[in-house]
Amino acid sequence: MSDNLSNINWYPGHMTKALRQMKEDIKLIDLIIEIIDARIPLSSRNPDIDELGKNKSRIVLLNKADLSDPKDNKEWIEYFKKKGVYALEIDARNKKTLRPINDLVKEACREKIEKDQKRGIINRPVRAMVVGIPNVGKSTFINSFAAKACTKTGNKPGVTKGKQWIRLNKDLEFLDTPGILWPKFESQKVGLNLALVGSINDEILHADELAYLLIGFLKVNYVDTISQRYGIVLEENKSEIKILEEIAVKRNYVIKGGLPDIDKAASSLIDDLRSGRLGRITLEKSGEQ
Ligand code: G4P
Repeated sequence: MSDNLSNINWYPGHMTKALRQMKEDIKLIDLIIEIIDARIPLSSRNPDIDELGKNKSRIVLLNKADLSDPKDNKEWIEYFKKKGVYALEIDARNKKTLRPINDLVKEACREKIEKDQKRGIINRPVRAMVVGIPNVGKSTFINSFAAKACTKTGNKPGVTKGKQWIRLNKDLEFLDTPGILWPKFESQKVGLNLALVGSINDEILHADELAYLLIGFLKVNYVDTISQRYGIVLEENKSEIKILEEIAVKRNYVIKGGLPDIDKAASSLIDDLRSGRLGRITLEKSGEQ
């Protein structure tokens, strides 16, 4: 597995260009809205953003919270709060969950707004940029949040030529292209977490190995999930391999000779996780950090 993971290649050229662009864009904004995947809050963020955005106001949005464990969502929000970062759980496809963002922006940018007021600058909207690693839901979020009454504005004085801003309301503007961060493979676990939620190309990882890891995790953290979904009795000490075989049998996934089709069972289990059919599951726990 580690061999496969070390083969994940993030084109350095592409990364350098993205970073250069991000540094330029950050100069234009007051607020960084960082989108992460609520199922793997740390694995889905690149901590370099802390350094890149150190003088900016910050908000973290735990997206795909419809798929993650509600209890963990609360714990992760507390985790970020303790670090002085405003955080909110959202489902980017559901506008209702985005409503508290305006108030959160005001809170996160209070200092800037007060400073402006003291200088007699009123009604200057907060300028924000959405950032995150691929697939966390940046585009979905921008589209949902900006869906109504948004006007695109560009080529304003002081704005780099060609930059487009999306005016959300009188208090808030977004840069219309999100900043793309790259995942940081600080440990093998990060790669595995990203693979499990489908954020990196899983063709380079073996589905059965991922599935065994997932079963091991579910046995400890969501013990009823497998038995409920697949009708399997989970006696103590039943191995991950045996469980995956039983899933194959229950689902009628067989190969020549009537043997259980492990690969198909593995893909189906992982697919069930990603789509939420296994229930709401958080793979990374704040208490372990
Ligand atoms: P990106 O810009 O950060 O790369 O991510 P993007 O918005 O393209 O979203 C990646 C995938 O995640 C999309 O699914 C999108 O629908 C899904 N998604 C985004 N936010 C949420 C959320 O809060 N909850 C859930 N459950 N899914 C979310 P896709 O399968 O790639 O595309 P599509 O089938 O939805 O078109």
